[in-house]
Amino acid sequence: SSDVHGEGGIPDMAKLAQSLPLETRCLPFSLRQYGGFWLPEWILPGLEAVHTHFEPRASDVFLASFPKSGTTWLKALAFATVNRAEHPPSGEDHPLRRRGVHDCVNFFESTFAVSREGGDVFAQLPSPRVLATHLPYSLLPERIVEDSSDSDCRIVYICRDPKDALVSGWLFTKKMLAAAAATNGGIVEMLPPAPYTMEEALDLFCHGRCVTGPHWHHVLEYWEESRRRPEKVLFLRYEEMLREPACNVKKLAEFMGCPFTDEEESAGVVDAIVDLCSFNQLTNLQVNKTGAMEGRLVARNELFFGKGVAGNWSNHMSPEMAARLDRIVEGALRGSGFTF
Ligand code: A3P
Repeated sequence: SSDVHGEGGIPDMAKLAQSLPLETRCLPFSLRQYGGFWLPEWILPGLEAVHTHFEPRASDVFLASFPKSGTTWLKALAFATVNRAEHPPSGEDHPLRRRGVHDCVNFFESTFAVSREGGDVFAQLPSPRVLATHLPYSLLPERIVEDSSDSDCRIVYICRDPKDALVSGWLFTKKMLAAAAATNGGIVEMLPPAPYTMEEALDLFCHGRCVTGPHWHHVLEYWEESRRRPEKVLFLRYEEMLREPACNVKKLAEFMGCPFTDEEESAGVVDAIVDLCSFNQLTNLQVNKTGAMEGRLVARNELFFGKGVAGNWSNHMSPEMAARLDRIVEGALRGSGFTF
């Protein structure tokens, strides 16, 4: 990755994009391959901007994920945890009860991709900031990942079974395209809706051709870094969070530098956060039933909530399809020490 982490940062994407390998079969976005990953073409200017314009702060917390791995949930939990003094989780007017989760915590590369003024949005946020990214670890700006006293910012990664991430993404894409067609699209250009079968989506996914794919490389990069620098990168699993939400929220708080006190624990603050951010609570809020992400994507908030369980892939993939993906993932991870 010396080309992206070299002294000159990353190249001029407006010029470079046209020469990068292109994939247009993977809905909903045209993808370009860069640095070993397939990124939405519309994100590329944002990738450049976060390298050149984004000013990290030592107190920043980055929430990183492969799409459809539980990002929305992690955003809600981290936001509620960091801001619990100002916004008690049981409060009726908590920001998460009034605003969409993705408006409480923005993706930094997409905010910069749709407007260079994105930088102002982030500069105005009070510390500690919670930000999110789908970028692979190797494409993050050097100033975020570097080892130095003034780059103390931390990264929390959420990982999910690739079969569930694939199925969740496939269902999301179909709903998103239908919604975009109904409203004449959003700010971001999408491919025209087309029949998009699970078989096609699986085939592309197996070749790593999906948003920020290959999935297993995305996961492995963050996992390896979490092993190398556990104080810098916290690696969480969606399935474990479903099993033991409170325990994972405590881990998250500790890692972010704001552990719960004994008084908070006995006052039920951890449980109140778990409750506020639970699938049932969030999906029952009016803002998540009828609201949409502020101005950016066409995505209505409700699209980010499906079933919220582990193993939904079995309702959409045959055992043979699952076995094919499992074999590919196992092969790619062999020798790494990591398993799903
Ligand atoms: P399913 O489509 O399998 O239901 P992302 O937030 O990264 O886009 O991931 C979306 C997935 O997370 C969806 O999975 C969605 O239902 C699930 N999800 C969203 N909010 C959740 C919550 N509060 N608790 C558990 N899962 C949640």
